[in-house]
Amino acid sequence: MKPGEVMFNAQCALCHGRKGDLGLSGAKDLTRSTLTREEMIAIVTHGKGGMMAYAKVLSAAEIEQVVDYARTLHAAE
Ligand code: HEC
Repeated sequence: MKPGEVMFNAQCALCHGRKGDLGLSGAKDLTRSTLTREEMIAIVTHGKGGMMAYAKVLSAAEIEQVVDYARTLHAAE
């Protein structure tokens, strides 16, 4: 497993699910997200609504890795 995948399964899957589409606690379906990489990095860094900010949990480089992994879960169009 890549570091981004390990982090995603540890930190994000609780709400988003390992496939990104679980949607617990109002979590957005990441397989259907239309956000850009930069927008996702901003949400993970600063948090939004029911999602906490990860700025104090993960480094900027780790946030990039976890977002890049999350983007691979996107449903094929
Ligand atoms: C406590 C549950 C929870 C956890 C844990 C969580 N999220 Fe979220 N996430 C949410 C919720 C709720 C939203 C919707 C926020 C809103 O728009 O109000 C969201 C939205 C997002 C979005 C925006 C998607 C879109 O299209 O609007 C991204 C990207 C995202 N999360 C990535 C992550 C990543 C990466 C992690 C792990 C580092 C993570 N989330 C951990 C609950 C969570």
